[in-house]
Amino acid sequence: MVDLREPWSIGPVEIPTRLVLAPMAGVSVQAFRRQGRRFGAGLVCSEMVSCAGIEHRNERTLGYLRVASDEHPLAIQLFGSEPRTMAEAARMVEAAGADLVDLNFGCPVRKVTKTGAGATLLDDPARAAAIVSAISAAVDIPVSVKLRRGLRDGSRDCLVVGPRLVEAGAASLTLHPRSARQMYTGTADHALTAELVSLVDVPVIASGDIVSRAKARAVLATTGAAAVMVGRAAQGNPWVLEEIVDGEPREPSREEVVAELVLFVRETVRELGERRASGFLKKFYGWYLGRGRFPRPFKQELVQLSSTEEVERRLIAAAPGALELIERLESEIPSGDEVTLELPISIYGGG
Ligand SMILES: Cc1cc2nc3c(=O)[nH]c(=O)nc-3n(C[C@H](O)[C@H](O)[C@H](O)COP(=O)(O)O)c2cc1C
Repeated sequence: MVDLREPWSIGPVEIPTRLVLAPMAGVSVQAFRRQGRRFGAGLVCSEMVSCAGIEHRNERTLGYLRVASDEHPLAIQLFGSEPRTMAEAARMVEAAGADLVDLNFGCPVRKVTKTGAGATLLDDPARAAAIVSAISAAVDIPVSVKLRRGLRDGSRDCLVVGPRLVEAGAASLTLHPRSARQMYTGTADHALTAELVSLVDVPVIASGDIVSRAKARAVLATTGAAAVMVGRAAQGNPWVLEEIVDGEPREPSREEVVAELVLFVRETVRELGERRASGFLKKFYGWYLGRGRFPRPFKQELVQLSSTEEVERRLIAAAPGALELIERLESEIPSGDEVTLELPISIYGGG
């Protein structure tokens, strides 16, 4: 039986638990990643960052490269299709302080695939391998790659592409065994993960439908994967990470839910600014307050409030006991301002 608390490593990077927090666009902000580490994820990952955005020094894109000192080990994920541009972006990821550079060869969204990036690369193994080898040559940190099974339903292309990427220098592979076409429908076929594990000599991370400790252990046992990755189950629910790593399912109290959400709101506002954060956060209200934790109209009320300060006030009014918890958490966890590392000047300067 695999112990989820057993450390492992990708190249020289030591990872304290067998649980990885998934990269999710529009979700995996620094606040999400720091919370994930606190609840037991051994490795966290940024959402996919555009290499073209980095190349053009797009300010918002560069913001995604901001790392906090208590996030480590952390991967920053890149998407793109040009080996040279991607290698340049990977150098910036390394300079920003990431422990790993992860490559997105799985995104099924048209906006990404039509540029030749994301899951399209599963149909172009030569280009995919060229990207990995260009990046491996450009940086000292390990390169990992996240794949889907292939573009079409039933595809087994990941079993062809995966080993080629390892030959090209990938130090780890993550497989989400759905086709790009499937998006998020159907189920993740982890029999394919087991096949991939048997074909490569680097750690494989299993992604898809890991929602409980039982599922995590079953997938680890049947696939031989080094770790499991959790995505949607952790949205508004960091407690599932604790459950997966440590044991019994535990439904948090209303006070705990409010305290974590308030902390998340405060940190996200620091990270994104009030204007961007207030839109970004709306989906999180449903995620945190759903699951039968609060009556449905309460969420409706929160999404209509115009400032995050009002949201915070309303949340605390619904569970006044949360205040004490928030104070305790804030005294235990360093604030985002204290731990967020400044980006090296060279990143802004184009050097
Ligand atoms: C909202 C959302 C955004 C995602 N964004 C990314 C991304 O930026 N990069 C990536 O590699 N995968 C992304 N994924 C895929 C997840 O990392 C993961 O592989 C997938 O959701 C299956 O795992 P799950 O069943 O635990 O959610 C995203 C998934 C969701 C739901």
